[in-house]
Amino acid sequence: ARVSLWGGRFAGGPDQALAALSKSTHFDWRLAPQDIAGSRAHARVLHSAGLLSAEHLTGMLEGLDALEADVLSGAFTPAEDDEDVHTALERGLIERVGTDLGGRLRAGRSRNDQVATLFRMYLREHARVVGGLVLDVVDALVGQAGRHLGVAMPGRTHLQHAQPVLLSHHLLAHAWALLRDVDRLRDWDVRADASPYGSGALAGSSLGLDPEAVAHDLGFARAVENSIDGTASRDFVAEFSFVSAMTAVDISRIAEEVVLWATKEFSFVTLHDSYSTGSSIMPQKKNPDVAELARGKAGRLVGDLAGLLTTLKALPLAYNRDLQEDKEPVFDAVDTLEVLLPAFSGMVDTLTFNTERLESLAPQGFALATDIAEWLVRQGVPFRVAHEVAGACVRECEPRGIELWDLTDEDFARISEHLTPEVRSVLSVEGSLASRDAAGGTAPVRVAEQLAAARVRLADA
Ligand code: ARG
Repeated sequence: ARVSLWGGRFAGGPDQALAALSKSTHFDWRLAPQDIAGSRAHARVLHSAGLLSAEHLTGMLEGLDALEADVLSGAFTPAEDDEDVHTALERGLIERVGTDLGGRLRAGRSRNDQVATLFRMYLREHARVVGGLVLDVVDALVGQAGRHLGVAMPGRTHLQHAQPVLLSHHLLAHAWALLRDVDRLRDWDVRADASPYGSGALAGSSLGLDPEAVAHDLGFARAVENSIDGTASRDFVAEFSFVSAMTAVDISRIAEEVVLWATKEFSFVTLHDSYSTGSSIMPQKKNPDVAELARGKAGRLVGDLAGLLTTLKALPLAYNRDLQEDKEPVFDAVDTLEVLLPAFSGMVDTLTFNTERLESLAPQGFALATDIAEWLVRQGVPFRVAHEVAGACVRECEPRGIELWDLTDEDFARISEHLTPEVRSVLSVEGSLASRDAAGGTAPVRVAEQLAAARVRLADA
């Protein structure tokens, strides 16, 4: 028979079609451990308020322990008739301790404050897991940066050769972005660290229950300030979802480069066999599926965020059943990141860089033209003129199919009186890199400092 939490005022049970629509156990069952923890805290606060005798409390806690063991072992699962995780667990408790005792737990709480609290607990736990997995990717990037100190590569803007940079500098650029995502998770946690338990359906509890005590019992720093806000707000879900999407987007930018770099044309990297896949028809293929899936899944996480925000848009206060739609998108985001990130850090960690090719391509495509212009500026030439002169050097080279350093002293002199043979001193990758020695630049000394700073961040994490 259906065990409904709200049957009293109804003559009969819900239609099968409504029950099917209403049901959420297939996705909210994962909140069962948090629900049971919440029930323990609630039982204790009922006892403190004199609404549950010591004997009843003991019986209740024993029942919850037994229920938890059965949930964890899989012996207790939601039944066809259970609407949601809260309904199922109340049924489970009553089956274990009887209706009289089991029926006392619900006093002073609502599924509205329950679910808002449990969801925060769940996301706070997973924020730590996801943050750790992001740090593993950072660790892999920092490891590669450390193993390739001094290797130059073509730095690009618009995907065109721009200026030579150090490979380590490029890899660390991705690391800093991911470290900010980890920071975002931590900042989020400060805001999520408030318990709505005790908000009741929306107006708070009349039974003298102390929300602060429940909050501390459940590992929160505090209770929410407003019971309506506590039950109706889901910005904590949206913000978590944004950080998840941002993380996936940051990962996708690395992924896209790996896909390009692994092509025959680039040949910058070779993927380890254990992080690449073959083709069922083309025997030679070695595909960057980890990177492609990362790129694809970023779209999925952006969709999760967009769907969630759309659900929240214009919802009146306080709780509305629409809010049941808040869980699947963010569970999907969590599950996706938790399966993606380990594969991604493994892929990054095992990439082999073709350093000779990176180095030889670093100055090509006239990537040292800026160095000519800046050399001229150091000789006192106005930058506008210097830019023009360096551009004329490129124009001289391009039709002849040569690079800047192939120009003769006579060529330089013909292009501009300012171009004395000394300009050659900057026509090397080493010279170009070393000259960019302001803080945050690609000069080897700066990149070494940067690497040390990133390692400190990892060690502190
Ligand atoms: N399962 C619901 C949710 O996830 C919680 C139940 C609240 N239901 C209600 N009728 N007030 O949002």
